Amino acid sequence: MTEQLTIRRPDDWHLHLRDGAMLTGIAPQSAKHFGRAIIMPNLVPPVVRGDDARAYRERILAALPDGSRFEPLMTLYLTETTDADDVAQAAQSGLVKSVKLYPAGATTNSDSGVRDFDRVLGVLERMADVGLPLCVHGEVTDNQIDIFDREAVFIERVLDPMRRRVPGLKVIMEHLTTSDAVDYVRSAEDGLAATITTHHLIINRNHILAGGIRPHYYCLPVAKRDSHRLALRAAAISGDRRFFLGTDSAPHADAAKEAACGCAGIFTATNTMSCLAQVFEAENALDRLEAFTSLNGPAFYGLPANDDTITLIKQADPVSFPESIETGAGPVTVFDPGFPLYWDVA
Ligand code: DOR
Ligand code: ZN
Repeated sequence: MTEQLTIRRPDDWHLHLRDGAMLTGIAPQSAKHFGRAIIMPNLVPPVVRGDDARAYRERILAALPDGSRFEPLMTLYLTETTDADDVAQAAQSGLVKSVKLYPAGATTNSDSGVRDFDRVLGVLERMADVGLPLCVHGEVTDNQIDIFDREAVFIERVLDPMRRRVPGLKVIMEHLTTSDAVDYVRSAEDGLAATITTHHLIINRNHILAGGIRPHYYCLPVAKRDSHRLALRAAAISGDRRFFLGTDSAPHADAAKEAACGCAGIFTATNTMSCLAQVFEAENALDRLEAFTSLNGPAFYGLPANDDTITLIKQADPVSFPESIETGAGPVTVFDPGFPLYWDVA
């Protein structure tokens, strides 16, 4: 039985670090284990231009513990008036590693996102020219479509037609929640990859709704029925280079989650690596954890894997994590996987 596992340092290919007191409070949680992270641009106001990303990057670096080597990989928030030249310049200078597409109204701070996908085709074509990938929040916002179907419908109505119109564009379909999305990513030859979160490997919709409503399991895309979770697990543990970790760790102060209209987002930065080791061990796939957390992501982005390692050690007794992280913006509840965690990062 493996009791210790050394892997290349992991990266997080989808992370919310927020700003101000929240940023200061939670950034060290990701910097502890992860080498790099793709930083989501859905601030208020959003990170739209290269200059916004440059300034935000400085604020993130200032929030890191002394001596941290954590590298924020910046993204731009795609709007219908995004300037293609500015995007190309930000990519070519090395500042920005992807552009994020939010369908307007799909999730937290997505109001400035895209309503008419035709209006961003010029930017997408330019991104294809300069080799800048697009990160996609894949849900339709049509109120006629049931919230549990919004990902599958997005693939058919938006994502597939878009990829056909801009064939050279590298696309990352983010935070997969359905077997439909897993199948779609597997069907693509090239230029399409996907992130999977820690929590979607662990929870299904019963966790949110059965026996009481549990706001700390609510995120978007919302967790689906268990057959979908199993499809996600199979994809994550497969070693397939098209699937990699993007935690979508998304802190909200408890008061904003535990409310009549609670915010979407699950905060997993603190215990993600322990949760994943537990999941991969349960699937007899610890030998493929490194591909998922540390190798497949950089390969898709055309970046080298991290040059250092982390060691996970299996403890005899469960490892304890704080129930919440105190921040200047209020306490943030840490994801509870619902089972004991034995793996600790040395
Ligand atoms: O659950 C989510 N939270 N999903 C998103 O797409 C956005 C995120 C956030 O920013 O809180
Ligand atoms: Zn997100």
